[in-house]
Amino acid sequence: MTATTTYATPTKTARPVPPLSGAAVFHEYIRPDLDAVELRLDAAIGSDVRTISTLTSHILRAGGKRLRPAMVALSARAYRPDVDRARVSLVGAAVELIHMASLVHDDVVDNTETRRGKPTANALFGNCVAVISGDYILARAMRLLADDGDVRLLRILADITVTMSEGEVMEIAAAGRYDLPMAEYLEILRKKTGVFLEGCCRCGAVLAEADERTENALAQYGSRLGLAFQLADDLLDYIGDPEITGKPRGSDLRDGRATMPFLLALQDANPAERDQLLTAFGDPTLDDAAVLRICALLRAHDGFDRTRAFAQEQVELAASSLSVLPPTQARDCFQALTSYVVLRDR
Ligand code: FPP
Ligand code: MG
Repeated sequence: MTATTTYATPTKTARPVPPLSGAAVFHEYIRPDLDAVELRLDAAIGSDVRTISTLTSHILRAGGKRLRPAMVALSARAYRPDVDRARVSLVGAAVELIHMASLVHDDVVDNTETRRGKPTANALFGNCVAVISGDYILARAMRLLADDGDVRLLRILADITVTMSEGEVMEIAAAGRYDLPMAEYLEILRKKTGVFLEGCCRCGAVLAEADERTENALAQYGSRLGLAFQLADDLLDYIGDPEITGKPRGSDLRDGRATMPFLLALQDANPAERDQLLTAFGDPTLDDAAVLRICALLRAHDGFDRTRAFAQEQVELAASSLSVLPPTQARDCFQALTSYVVLRDR
């Protein structure tokens, strides 16, 4: 099925998209797409209810990497370089809105006070307003997809939301479990993030009317990249610079979320170290010095290096999925994006 409606690309000057990193050259090729996404986002989040519009514009202004719209645009242009920008930006805005909604809800769940260096919606407006505004943002995404009219896109993004919700609930249910099996941890990552990036790539393939082989290759790329991306996120929680990540260090440890660096170190810890790890795990009162002591222990057991190596393997697998694509500028951009995911500092 093809779209029932076409839209003119907005021409107003867009708010600049924050760069993904200094080396992220891939951003330049799709900058016009991402600028058009910003305009769509601006138009989509307004509300007559001032509390909602204040909250949504606060979140938009806080920035974000716009990774998901970038994946939609690159996937579409990898197959059809001249694909319609109006549709790419509409779907790009929809995926960014779903992402925003999920983070607003996630910050309520995690009781997080800062994201991207700014106070979270729950910190500013309280949990009740944050939860309902998250619903509002999600509904805005649905409305954009309804405007596009391609039910395949709606199905992909509904499936993503279902799976992400499952992943988030699995993660909540796993809180406090220091003995979480590695396979279960990886399944949570797949559901929370892998499936989203996979779906963004599938949406791009649908927009480009790509053949099934190309769509599946792009989807596999997204899924593997997503896993690596979330592993990098879990690493940054311990070793990122809070000034750069905009998030406090050690949240996973304080909240009792066992992630790969912790699970690997715990497997190899001696009894005294194991005691130290389990005493810190899930202790919300840990100060920065205590978090840094645990970081030293995780490092001593190569918890960070082994996690990075695993993420690197996923990234290499992701890159190999691209081999079926014709050589295009978009494919080169994907290669650049692939390296960025593990090297990123935010
Ligand atoms: C951030 O993870 C959270 C996610 C990747 C997914 C959140 C999903 C939901 C709340 C369910 C779906 C809901 C909607 C509205 C679509 P994290 O806590 O590990 O990362 P962080 O450090 O950035 O918070
Ligand atoms: Mg969180």
